[in-house]
Amino acid sequence: MHCFTNHLHLLLLLLLLQLKNTCVISDEPPAESLPLPPQPSIPVQNASIEYMDPTLPPLLPTQNPKCSLHLLQEDFADTIGAPPTYVTFSPPPDCPAPWSRVILEFSGVASDIQQDRIAAIWLDGSEILRTSTPMPMSPGVFWHVHKDITRYSALLRQPPGGTGTENILSMMLENSNTTLPGVYSINVTLHFYRGVIHEEELVENEPFKLSAHPTSKGLYKKPADKIIPISNIAGNGSTGFWFQLTNETEPPTVTVMVPNNAYRAVIEIYVSHHGNDEYWYANPLRSNGPELQEVGIGLVAPQANGGFRQVVALIDGRYAGGAIPFPVIQPGSVNPFFWAPVSAIGAYDYPSYDLDITPFVGTLLDGQPHEFGLTVKDCQPYWLISGNLHLWLDAWSDEVEGKLVRYKVPTLRLSRQADWKEMEGKSEMEGGAIIRFSGWVSSSLGNVSTSIRHKVKFKSHVEMQDKGATKQVEIESKARINIRIERDDMVVGRVLVDTEAPLQMEIISSNGGGGTRFHKTKLTHGLAELMSVTGGKTATLSSISDRQDLRGVVVDARWYRCLGQR
Ligand SMILES: *[C@@H]1O[C@H](CO)[C@@H](O)[C@H](O)[C@H]1NC(C)=O
Ligand SMILES: *[C@@H]1O[C@H](CO)[C@@H](O)[C@H](O)[C@H]1NC(C)=O
Ligand SMILES: *[C@@H]1O[C@H](CO)[C@@H](O)[C@H](O)[C@H]1NC(C)=O
Ligand SMILES: *[C@@H]1O[C@H](CO)[C@@H](O)[C@H](O)[C@H]1NC(C)=O
Ligand SMILES: *[C@@H]1O[C@H](CO)[C@@H](O)[C@H](O)[C@H]1NC(C)=O
Ligand SMILES: *[C@@H]1O[C@H](CO)[C@@H](O)[C@H](O)[C@H]1NC(C)=O
Repeated sequence: MHCFTNHLHLLLLLLLLQLKNTCVISDEPPAESLPLPPQPSIPVQNASIEYMDPTLPPLLPTQNPKCSLHLLQEDFADTIGAPPTYVTFSPPPDCPAPWSRVILEFSGVASDIQQDRIAAIWLDGSEILRTSTPMPMSPGVFWHVHKDITRYSALLRQPPGGTGTENILSMMLENSNTTLPGVYSINVTLHFYRGVIHEEELVENEPFKLSAHPTSKGLYKKPADKIIPISNIAGNGSTGFWFQLTNETEPPTVTVMVPNNAYRAVIEIYVSHHGNDEYWYANPLRSNGPELQEVGIGLVAPQANGGFRQVVALIDGRYAGGAIPFPVIQPGSVNPFFWAPVSAIGAYDYPSYDLDITPFVGTLLDGQPHEFGLTVKDCQPYWLISGNLHLWLDAWSDEVEGKLVRYKVPTLRLSRQADWKEMEGKSEMEGGAIIRFSGWVSSSLGNVSTSIRHKVKFKSHVEMQDKGATKQVEIESKARINIRIERDDMVVGRVLVDTEAPLQMEIISSNGGGGTRFHKTKLTHGLAELMSVTGGKTATLSSISDRQDLRGVVVDARWYRCLGQR
């Protein structure tokens, strides 16, 4: 045990110093078995360490909130398979809607060492936060998530009917303290702001101000009037509001009656990937041959359907929008020392995907129920998925009309090439598509046409050499969404969202002696987004560019991988 502790200690230091890989092999025989992760012997015991998500520095109003509601204080000890925890609440009477800003504050502390765990928060069954915990390697790890949830205002307002109709906030955090002792203590607080918002200037002389993570900000400033969950309502009281997706062919669906006066709609999707798809981006493509053995750090799934996935929304079984998911790397993945104390991009605040379905609104206004489905192309067990239908309603009309005019959805063409011999070989996938929808909706706002052009490009390369001991992965993923809004043949608004998410990874495994394995791990990944919204005389531009470059060594990762399921 002692020798192992030293290794981890050294590895941690190597990482902190950002040195290149150096293998330090001790002559002492390694421990036979490792029932528990060895704790780093650096003097951090009981010291508090703050872990953080680097995606964006939290941009918070500088004034005090008008009011705050501390809604949830809960210890998550042995909660795998347990129903969601929930609280009922009403917005405070002294700060009624509308709010100029609502901020969700999520604070957590881990009592001890534990695995990373997946968690989510829902309001009346609609997801508002998907998050992972850190993977604490010592007691006292704590972290905070601040998220702008103004876009969910419709779920926070007192529902009509006065007292007795309350809002419900539910949360799941799938922890188990049977193998590792860590218990997560979580607080959830909502802060409501009214009036002008004062924000810190992030960068001096910066012409454009960041206001939130662009992907989760939504395409429109004005929050939706109604939000309908596309989630597993039957999982309330049991498995939670997310759907557990194991295959692409039988997508879960929710039947929705869209109000007759809807004039704009966006489907927002939250996903996280687990189990055999935890490393979907590193999945080789193989049609036959022997089942790959485990190599690297659990980087080979039993099925081999390649490193491409697409999150898809369906309306009445028909494609209504899709997105290539950003590969959020969970804090126990690849090399857990990479993510202590700075997590991978988005790990504590997963991006959600906004799909503007306004061109389809006309087909939804027929007073009939419609089936909204969610799926992930080529997925393997399992993905946790849930969505929200954001609807904007015309308060001046009881009925609006509309029509889907153009629907061009070519099948996403992917070229697939694979060349494998036993544990060696490579596979490539490459493809793209241009999807176009347009439709008009005539309401008291006028006859407004929305045209959407969505272009995606994707490339995946997975290669293994040295009998599987060397693994290289590279993905390129680019998307561009153009939205044009016209009224009376005049362009009144334009939205452009450009997204790029490259990832490169290399893992070289070698024998560490005495049954242990060394893994040299190298990872570069990034998220770049540019969003511009023009409407009338106003224009906003926001951009984000995150990149992480990491390299380090980890000794046989068995101890953190095989303990319980996430
Ligand atoms: C760390 O905390 C635990 C319980 O919280 C306590 O039993 C232990 O004595 C503490 N250790 C140190 C070195 O302070
Ligand atoms: C949660 O809130 C309580 C009461 O304000 C506080 O004592 C506790 O330290 C908080 N825990 C976390 C994890 O923030
Ligand atoms: C979930 O279940 C609780 C307890 O039965 C109930 O009060 C609540 O209304 C349900 N929430 C939703 C969104 O169905
Ligand atoms: C898990 O945590 C709970 C709450 O702190 C505690 O009562 C229980 O004994 C723990 N279980 C184990 C196996 O340590
Ligand atoms: C596909 O997933 C559905 C649930 O979404 C499940 O009922 C079904 O058994 C799965 N089919 C296969 C072949 O795994
Ligand atoms: C709305 O405009 C489209 C063309 O832009 C037209 O085809 C349609 O008839 C108009 N609808 C109404 C109700 O005027």
